[in-house]
Amino acid sequence: MKFGVLTGGGDCPGLNAAIRAVVRRAAGFGHMTVGFLDGWKGVRDDLARPLPWAEVAGILSRGGTILGSSRTNPFAKESDGERVLETLRREGVDALVAIGGDDTLTAALELFRRGGHVVGVPKTMDNDVAGTDWTFGFHSAAAVAVDALERLRDTAGSHHRAIVLEVMGRHAGWVALATGLAGGADATLVPEEPYDEEAVLARVRRAVQERGYALVVASEGIDLGARRGSKGAKDEFGHELLREREVGAELAHRIQERTGVETRSAQIGHIQRGGAPDLFDRILATRLGAFAVDLALAGRFGEVAVLRGEKVTGIPLGEAVGSPKVVTPDWLELLHTFDA
Ligand code: F6P
Repeated sequence: MKFGVLTGGGDCPGLNAAIRAVVRRAAGFGHMTVGFLDGWKGVRDDLARPLPWAEVAGILSRGGTILGSSRTNPFAKESDGERVLETLRREGVDALVAIGGDDTLTAALELFRRGGHVVGVPKTMDNDVAGTDWTFGFHSAAAVAVDALERLRDTAGSHHRAIVLEVMGRHAGWVALATGLAGGADATLVPEEPYDEEAVLARVRRAVQERGYALVVASEGIDLGARRGSKGAKDEFGHELLREREVGAELAHRIQERTGVETRSAQIGHIQRGGAPDLFDRILATRLGAFAVDLALAGRFGEVAVLRGEKVTGIPLGEAVGSPKVVTPDWLELLHTFDA
């Protein structure tokens, strides 16, 4: 058999571990693998690179993706969709492993509906793919955000300031939640809850009064009611580039104006997406990549490898895409136990 593998959407730590797992698991059964460059663009435009066993040596711990990535929607035009199937025929690919988040996996589902032999592997720093307990990339990215918050604590404490840390996550607040919980923020704002300015100001005032500084974590997806900075730019799947709204900076401005506490903001952006995967992400990416090969060998095309409790299993792609997994009320209840 010949396997194909691609990484699509925003990169995150663990992609290389997943690519390596696909290649090595397939090689273990005597199958070869070809990598498509820059996500679905590589399949549409037939940009392929052989991935022999040795080619994936030493990449397990490296951030980013050796295959490159893009936010190309291969079914944006009917003719592109046909080119995808043509490439797979021309390259002689019997099974394609699509590693990505909601957009990449939605395209995989469309390919499956058109007769393509494809299986999925979920990844994203946003942790918002439905049907899996965790996506790889999330733990490593959130750890970077927690580290940033700890650094901000030092400087906020020294200057008796409030500081707002804006983190990524799109329309799911998992990264903000993890950062606020693990970093001990005084207020954490997630898109799953309506913005309550009075509550935020009260927490900031109380924190400053009681220990001299305040730390606020804001998810890029929160709605402050008024827009600032956004050019409304969108990617190929129609998603607004949320960081351009600069909600952290806007929030810092409001806090300073309404409390009189000197306030700064920091937007760590893509710093969260780079760097080596942590232990959890290395192992999860390895398990899911290997299991995706098993799914394909069992003829279970149209499925995606997911983590359920301790076990890795396969579910239909349709169950994983379309409605992102957002932060649940039990997590929010825990989070607010620790607000100032
Ligand atoms: O989906 C991952 C993510 O990092 C989101 O958290 C963020 O909104 C988006 O990608 C940023 O996209 P880009 O890398 O295209 O600017």
